[in-house]
Amino acid sequence: MARNHTDIIEALNGALAWELRAIAMYAHYSAYVSGIHRLQLSTHFSQEVTESTTHAATVRAAIVKLDGIATTDRADTEIIHTMDYTVMLKEAYNTEMTASETYGRILPMIESLGDKELYDSLETIYFDEMRSVEELRMMLK
Ligand SMILES: [Fe+2]
Ligand SMILES: [Fe+2]
Repeated sequence: MARNHTDIIEALNGALAWELRAIAMYAHYSAYVSGIHRLQLSTHFSQEVTESTTHAATVRAAIVKLDGIATTDRADTEIIHTMDYTVMLKEAYNTEMTASETYGRILPMIESLGDKELYDSLETIYFDEMRSVEELRMMLK
């Protein structure tokens, strides 16, 4: 039986747009972070670019599986330009919080589809985002 997944696809596109924004934000911060902390934070931000790219690919594949059209636009929430690494970390924290909330809302929707493979792949992302929130909370102490 054909089912209409409009709401789920819309929610997944929201998550995808947020990943596309995260990729741009972390690439930007990796380039601009300066001072002694550049040594660690530039690498850290680059790894976040890679992780967000992987997340985007998973979400895109989920949208394809549900016969939706994946967005190519990033979320329009402003990416704050700064040279101050504490501002970067606060922006990263806010970004990861929003990401974890977004996947937290999506998981019950996916669960209702009864697609275990899809659920597991998105749950993995959700755990990644929660780990990032906790890591950034510790970095900001
Ligand atoms: Fe992500
Ligand atoms: Fe993340």
